[in-house]
Order: sequence, then C-alpha cells, then structure tokens
Amino acid sequence: MSSKDSKTEYHFLIEHLHYHNYRYHVLNDPVISDYEFDQKLNRLKAIEEAHPDWTMPDSPSQRAGAEPLSQFNKVTHPVPILSLGNAFDEQDIRDWHARIMRLDERVREAEFTVEPKLDGLTVVLHYQDGTFVQGATRGNGEVGEDITENLRTIKSLPLHIPIKTKGPKVPESLVVRGEVIITKADFIQLNERLEKEGKKTYLNPRNTAAGSLRQLDSKITAQRPLTLLVYAIVNHQDGEVPDTQWETLSYLKALGFPVAESSQHCKTLDDAIAMCNNSDPDTFPFEVDGMVIKVDKLNLSQDLGVVGKDPRGAIAYKFPAMSVTTKLMDIGVKVGRTGVITPYAVLQPVEIGGVVVRHATLHNFDFINDKDIRIGDRVLIKRAGEVIPYVIDPIKDIRSGDEVRYSPPANCPSCGDPLVNPKDEVAYFCTNSACPAQLIRNLEHFVSREAMDIVGLGVNTVHQLVEAGLVKDIADLYRLEKPDLLKLEGFGEKKADNLITAIEQSRAQPLHRLVTGLGIRLVGQVAAQALSTHYPDLHTLSMASKEEIEAMEGFGPNMAESIIAWFNNKDNQLILDKLKDSDVWPVEKPQEDVGDAGNLPLAGLTFVITGTLPTLSRTEAKELIESKGGKVTGSVSGNTDYLLLGENPGSKFAQAQKRDIPTLSEDALRQLINEKSA
Ligand code: IVH
Repeated sequence: MSSKDSKTEYHFLIEHLHYHNYRYHVLNDPVISDYEFDQKLNRLKAIEEAHPDWTMPDSPSQRAGAEPLSQFNKVTHPVPILSLGNAFDEQDIRDWHARIMRLDERVREAEFTVEPKLDGLTVVLHYQDGTFVQGATRGNGEVGEDITENLRTIKSLPLHIPIKTKGPKVPESLVVRGEVIITKADFIQLNERLEKEGKKTYLNPRNTAAGSLRQLDSKITAQRPLTLLVYAIVNHQDGEVPDTQWETLSYLKALGFPVAESSQHCKTLDDAIAMCNNSDPDTFPFEVDGMVIKVDKLNLSQDLGVVGKDPRGAIAYKFPAMSVTTKLMDIGVKVGRTGVITPYAVLQPVEIGGVVVRHATLHNFDFINDKDIRIGDRVLIKRAGEVIPYVIDPIKDIRSGDEVRYSPPANCPSCGDPLVNPKDEVAYFCTNSACPAQLIRNLEHFVSREAMDIVGLGVNTVHQLVEAGLVKDIADLYRLEKPDLLKLEGFGEKKADNLITAIEQSRAQPLHRLVTGLGIRLVGQVAAQALSTHYPDLHTLSMASKEEIEAMEGFGPNMAESIIAWFNNKDNQLILDKLKDSDVWPVEKPQEDVGDAGNLPLAGLTFVITGTLPTLSRTEAKELIESKGGKVTGSVSGNTDYLLLGENPGSKFAQAQKRDIPTLSEDALRQLINEKSA
C-alpha cells in the first residue's frame, strides 16, 4: 500500500481534515458526515504510520494528545498579558469614559467594540508561518506555562491558518489571545455522563477547563470538551493586521479562529452601555461574567496606557453577581437510575439574577467532607444559565457553633437497603434492583424523548404508577389497562385513553430506541444505534459475546462488559420475556437487505437536511426518510436528489442551488412519501 501513498495525497488530506474540522467545531455546520471524516482521518493515520517522517506538526492526527510531560516549561510572553479594570454600574462606565477623555481628546470621537467577558482561562497562542507552534497560560502576565500539547487537542483551535486557501494573508509570526472555556451544554452533558457512570462530577465549567489545561498528560485533556474563543492580537511580525478591535475580530474569524458571535460595534458610548444593559448572561451558550467595552481604535487604546495591570482602553462591565450566600437548611439525597446516591442542598430560598433558588447541587459526599460543609452553615452558591445552581463554599468565619456535621446515609432513602461505597469510588450506591427510586428513574428514561418517546407519560404519572404498584418494571407499562389508570388521581376517561394509545403506539418504535430505553450503563443513543444495525433484535443482541461487541467500532471493553452484564442479569431476562410476550419486539432489517427497501417509497433517493424543520428534529427527519427506504447524507453532492430545507439553512442551501438540486419542505417531504406510496 505504501508504494501508492503520495505526499500530495497526504497534504491534501491534512487540508481537507482541517477544513472539515473547522466546519464542524467552529462554524457548527458540517458538510460531511462523522463517518466520512473518520474515514479520511484513518487514511491520514495509515499514511503517517507508513511514512513517520512525513508527519507534520500541524497534522490533525496530533490532536489526540502527546506523551505525558514531567512538568510544564515556562514561556515569556512577547508583551505583558494585561488584565481588565471592572465597572459595576453605568456610572462607573461613564466615569471611566470621562477619565480617559481627560487624558486624550481623541476619546471624544471614539467608537467602541463590545464583547462578552468570557469566564474561562486566558491563553496565548503563537503561530509561525501560519502553523500553531506554541500555546501558554497567562501566568503572572509576564511568564506563563507552556501548554502547547494540551491546546493542540482543542478541536476549535486551528492548527494552521488561514483555514481557507483564499483566506487573508498571515504575518510570519502572529500571537493571539483568547479564552478556553467549556460551553454550558457540554458541561451539562459531561456531568450527566459522569453521573451515569457513578463517577465524581465536576464543580463548574471554569474549574473544569482550568483543571483540564493543567494536565501533564494531554491525552486526558483530549477527552474534555474544551472550546476556544479568541479576541485579540497580542503581537505580530512582518505583515499587516487591522488597526481597530472590530476589524481584528473579523480578521481573526476570516483566518479560521472561533470568535464570539455576540460582539458588536458601537458608534457611541451610549450605544455600548445599552448593548451591555440589554445583555442577559443566561442567553449565552457559555458562562460570561460581564461585557467588555473596548476603545475601537487600537493605536488610541495603546496610547492611553495602563494603570497597574489594567489597560485604560478597555473596561469590564460586570453583570450583577450570580453568586449569593444563603443558609443551608438541610442536605437531601437523590437516587439515580444506576442506584448512585447524590447529595443536594436544601436552601433558604434566595433570588439570584431574577430566579428563586431553593436547591443546589453538592456534587458528592467527598465534596461535603473536603469543604467541611455543615447543616446550618451560610453557604456561597452560584447560578449560571441552565447549569444547576451549585454550592461553592461554606462561610466558616460566621459560624455560631450550632451547625451540624453531616455524614452520608447508611441506607437508601427510597427502599431502605444498606448503601454500598465501592473501594476507590466516591459514589455510594443502592444495589437493590427493585428499589422504587431506581425504578422511577429507569421508567423516566425509558419513556423519554431520546428513548421510547411516550408522550403524555410525564414524571408525575411515572411516580403515580410506581407508588400504586401498577408498574414494577419497564415491561409492565405494556400491561396497563384503562381501569388501572382510572384508579389514579387526576385520570379521567380521556387522559387514560390518551395514555393507553401513546403506550400502544410506542410498540412500533425502532429497535435502537428500545435499546436506548433499557438503560444499559454506558449505552447511549449512538451506541444503541450501532448495536441495532449489527443485531436485528434483542434476542440476537443478548447472545452476543464480549469479543464480538468489543470488535465493533466505538465499543471498548467497559461498554461490552456492561452490555453482557445487563443481559446476564436474571431480572433483566424476565423483562425481555415480558416485552416479547407483550409484542414490544422491534426487528431491524439487516443493512445489506435492500430487497424490501426497493419497494419503499423513497428507495433509491438521497437526501440532505439543512436548517430547522417545523416539527421534526434532524434525527427524526433522518429516521423518517430512512424508514421509507431513502438515504440521508451529510453533504450536497452530485448524488443528492433532494435538499430537505428548514428555517435558517446553512451553506448546504447555496450548494444545492448551485447544483440545481430541488428543495423540499417538511410538508412536501410527507407529500412525496404519500404520492410514492400510492
Ligand atoms: S481583553 C488588553 N476581552 O477577563 C486586553 N479580556 O478579568 C485585556 N476576558 O484577563 C483583556 N473575555 O482573561 C478581554 N472579550 C474579552 C475577554 C477578556 C474574558 C478575561 C481576560 C482577562 C480577564 C480580566
């Protein structure tokens, strides 16, 4: 094979992978599927294995992490990495403006750029001839630490600029400044995953990002969902860069850097203040602790100089505190789906940023112990967007002496069974498979949108069904009869009929939804999908060997073990029997078997989806098309028959227009299916 490898192909692959990585991680608008991306990456790795000397420092393969370091080297910054002065209200901003106007008359006419103040870690990134060569922490502003290998693993960080062949010219040496963050959504997902695995959850996005960047082993950093956003050019040599902050942001964006979309150019200070006042921290996808107002002309900003470590040309307008103190009234515990027990704070209700907070997470029992949190303490809590409010610290200085130390419960709060704290694990578990709290969580998961999607079976009804003893496992849902439901509070004829119909309809859900719904540890939607394409039904899946599962792409030994353990469990085997008896037994067609698909209405047609559809999510639209025999691909090509078009389409729309590919609305798609079925 190696004799056929060409350097041209290798460089072509690097360029392609950088571009598709950028489409996915910076623009959030991929034009090829994950599968196609992985194929290209595998090809690149094969070439590098055959020709190690060809491997480029900016090759996409280098994002996986390097050999662990014993310590970080020091990096002297080319210029001091300054901080920012703070303003807490409008008057502080006007005072700042008046101060700098007294220093320099040009401020009177100055325009401004307003940006979100990202609550992450400052990083300084060095590019030599367009290649990312070094990255450092801020450190003390003069000297930071070399965290190049860790930064290389961040997918939104360009390893080479400009990303596009026709992008702007890049100075021979370019140093940019940005912030490494974890988005709220990624943080929630990360903690949900850890909680499911019974592992210690992270305290907040900022600390998690900080801890991840300080890893000596970059392979660990590579597993954390870090994101980069840049906002300044620190230094450059040979070449030109813009002379305003606003143009700098566009320039950095054009080079392929991720830049906060929410920044704005404001002609007057009043506009800048209005922009800050109208910004709501909850609406940003990442944590922000304020807005930054910057004098737009960079030479004027430079001339204004610094006070201490704060440049005069910019100021942070902080949002009202999202942290407050309140009394910890009690510590409660909840039981998760896998039996993991987690503590939460019962608080004296307190308002944070317009929302009344009554509960906050306490993470795990070690956290309570390490921080010496006692019932009755005043505690500092923080709320940020959708992240569940969390306790940061107890205020020990103002203790009265009446505070009570806390110890984890010995028994499950739901079933009373003794709790187990496996050696070397932080989590406490209830191991009783008949525990009602676990059953409730299991059922909630089974009926959820990502699994069987049983509309009308909400959390309250699940509780009622379990408490009334009507449902003892997921399969019991399919044995419910109308008279059973009528016994429950709030259930009339109509509500009971609707629920029975919804449960009835869910029998037709495809196999992967049922597999997701079983709640096998470590098996989420993606793994369930993969298992369902390999195994046509639950019976064949239950017979699979560990080796067979492990051999599947994306499945490791832990997942394989967890699957085998689930199917070996006697209680679960009974559930499978009951599901089969109740005819909840979807059978997936083998992928190769196109015989039947040939008769389906969309057989032979290839679709691409773009934009937001009125009722279907992308996954649902894909499922609909595939269930009717059609194919869905990630990018527009000569093989595309239709573009399924929603609101705010991405670039696929323009590409489809260029190729004269017909577009379909969601309605038109349904019509097409009907016409072709007739
Ligand atoms: S400008 C001379 N812009 O906030 C330039 N800083 O509390 C000074 N930060 O150390 C920094 N978002 O790490 C700037 N859009 C933004 C920022 C930002 C977050 C951080 C930065 C700084 C800290 C000061």
